[in-house]
Amino acid sequence: MTEATGTDQNKLANFLRKHVDIVFAVLRNTVPNLSFGEIAVVTRYSDVKEVLDNPGVFRVSYAEAMDDSVGPFMLARDLTELNERDKGIMRSVMKRSDLEDIRLRVRRLAEESLSRAEHNQIDLVPQLTRHVPAQLTQDYFGLRAESPADILRWSRATQHDMFHNGFEKDEARKAAVHALNLAAGAEMQARISDVLIPDCRQAIAAGEPRDDILTRLLRIEFNDAVDFDTSRIATNLMGTLVGGIETTSAAAAQTLAQLFKRPRPLAMAKEIALSANDSESDRAELLRICREALRFDPINPLVVRVCDSDFVVAKGTLRRRRIRKGKKVLVCTRSAMRDGRQLELPSAFATDRPDHHYMHLGYGHHRCLGDHISNVQLPELVRAVLRLDNPRPVGEIDKASGPFPEHYRIQLGRGEA
Ligand code: HEM
Repeated sequence: MTEATGTDQNKLANFLRKHVDIVFAVLRNTVPNLSFGEIAVVTRYSDVKEVLDNPGVFRVSYAEAMDDSVGPFMLARDLTELNERDKGIMRSVMKRSDLEDIRLRVRRLAEESLSRAEHNQIDLVPQLTRHVPAQLTQDYFGLRAESPADILRWSRATQHDMFHNGFEKDEARKAAVHALNLAAGAEMQARISDVLIPDCRQAIAAGEPRDDILTRLLRIEFNDAVDFDTSRIATNLMGTLVGGIETTSAAAAQTLAQLFKRPRPLAMAKEIALSANDSESDRAELLRICREALRFDPINPLVVRVCDSDFVVAKGTLRRRRIRKGKKVLVCTRSAMRDGRQLELPSAFATDRPDHHYMHLGYGHHRCLGDHISNVQLPELVRAVLRLDNPRPVGEIDKASGPFPEHYRIQLGRGEA
């Protein structure tokens, strides 16, 4: 047998990407828990949840890409004091009572940036879906860069290495992506410790009414026993940039792309976006429409875990599978969200599905820290686009051969798209 060449592997990867839902459906119905070589694949809803409910066995493997860049971070640690303390502290300052203010900020930023449209065409990725969360990272979290380009570069470099480089086969390319991540981490560390923290301390001492996440953390003055010093603050602040920009951008672009392909859900979403009502129940319905649209093209098909001790998934059933220690486990959340054993008519667009059917924001121990913010930000970004004059896509989302949406152009008005 001849060995697969790099081109063969690329062809296979492209085929799998293009037909991912068919591949997942076949697996769910034939070998739902598959194990071959160094890899195990888990595809059914209940088994995906079982794996993510066992963080002591199925461990995250992000430390290699994260530790030397942003420092030890909650997402790279399972069941540790660091994870639980940092997540608790961060959740206590990222308050739910901020959400109304966040919603209004996002709305204002989105409207401002879309009002700069030229020639009735807008490229949504640079102009909206990346721009708004990047601005929120600066204003709400307090990670202010010297220039907006720095924020975008740091976000891209860290996300690329931490979440997309693990499957890169070309060693030189892999190393180059990792190097950009380390450089971004070093730049952010320097910016936070040399400029932002001293500035912020000065503002606090001067009694300025500054209020962002960095300022809130510095005001707390943790007792030594808590072990949460300025290096922890820096890491967590960088973590909000890593977690919050490219994810939101991809989610917004991909939600819109799915809506533009579905006349009825699009009409429902437009009606809410254009209504003067703007009630809480309308906003909740728009969120339900968005997360359902995104179910047809989630930002990632899966999360990765490494098995730390032999474990039988779906024990006591015919589909049980022993996963050996050391295997890389592809936990297919996209597949779980299409599993007809759990979801009624999974191929239909339905806005009355229960919350627990969605895994866009992860599940279990590492459920997204910014989930409440995402649930406000995503519908606001979509709303802003749907309020424009007759928006429609010019083509598909363009990822420019990389992992993230880079361009998504829409046409406005009555002219030809
Ligand atoms: C639509 C936007 C977003 C999506 C789709 C998203 C998605 C996710 C997912 C899937 C995970 C779990 C990863 C895993 O289990 O391996 C996660 C975790 C995380 N997200 Fe988000 N996220 C979004 C926005 C945000 C925002 C705005 C923040 C800002 C704080 C954020 C910060 C984090 C952090 C810190 C974690 C790790 C939590 C932990 O380890 O306990 N994310 N996110």
